[in-house]
Amino acid sequence: MNFPHRHVLGIKQFNAEELNFILDTAESFKEINTRKIKKVPTLRGRTIINLFFEASTRTRTSFEIAGKRLSADTVNISGSSSSVVKGETLEDTARNIEAMHPDIIVMRHGASGASDYLATRLDCAVVNAGDGTHEHPSQALLDALTIRQHKGEIAGLKVAIIGDITHSRVVRSNIDCLNKLGADVRICGPKTMLPPGLERLGCRLVSNLAEALTDADVVMMLRIQRERQGKTLIPSLREYSRYFGLNENNLKLAKPDAIVMHPGPMNRGVEISTAVADGSQNVILDQVENGVAVRMALLYLAAGGETQSED
Ligand code: CP
Repeated sequence: MNFPHRHVLGIKQFNAEELNFILDTAESFKEINTRKIKKVPTLRGRTIINLFFEASTRTRTSFEIAGKRLSADTVNISGSSSSVVKGETLEDTARNIEAMHPDIIVMRHGASGASDYLATRLDCAVVNAGDGTHEHPSQALLDALTIRQHKGEIAGLKVAIIGDITHSRVVRSNIDCLNKLGADVRICGPKTMLPPGLERLGCRLVSNLAEALTDADVVMMLRIQRERQGKTLIPSLREYSRYFGLNENNLKLAKPDAIVMHPGPMNRGVEISTAVADGSQNVILDQVENGVAVRMALLYLAAGGETQSED
């Protein structure tokens, strides 16, 4: 199919056919990651700049590995080591980087809409690696690929997403992605962590964990994002864990073959017990593995979907 998008800013820009096309492209790249020589010439001669203004382990590493496995030249810049600390604006930073002729800028930023802002000002492709509480499209896509891997078909699945919903960009991208792919999404968390109007995104709010877990095919746990909370929104972590934490007992409410997901980083003993995080139903490291393939697909498509060229 013809992929008409220059930038990857959010799941909102894609329809179901395009989402499936990205997942199929990622699927085709997966095998490269298990070869002895994990490198293909697809993006040889292309330059990718990973510009991360927020901490990241999985996303930054996997975008870098994805670029390298496609033979692109990748450069990593973190906010703390850039001239932003001297007062340079995001736009000036990006324009200076663009003057070095990268093909793609992959950016994580604490401000919602930062990637959209750059995309309207730069000529090179922009890939959103997470912007504030807005979107994390590559995470939703790797989650969808993992669900597809374990369940075959996403349409019709009951997916429970539980945790700090207000501050999660992962949940916004996931609700949109899973809805478009035909899943039935239910959301659960403390009232203080549920933003008003969430149902408009196409999910069902459920008030307690037991209701969220009952008959779920997929259980996705999210961490409390204390770094984004202006004030404490729960009495204590112990209480949170008691009412909203996933453990071996309440997981029995989900379907026996339900899979347990977490985008990471996990807070063991808070939103998920160690027994469940390491248990037989967890697919958490499959998510990480699929993250490389999904990011290979996104870089490939953002580069125009072409193989190496001398132009
Ligand atoms: N899931 C995720 O975005 O993890 P990192 O913050 O480590 O990139």
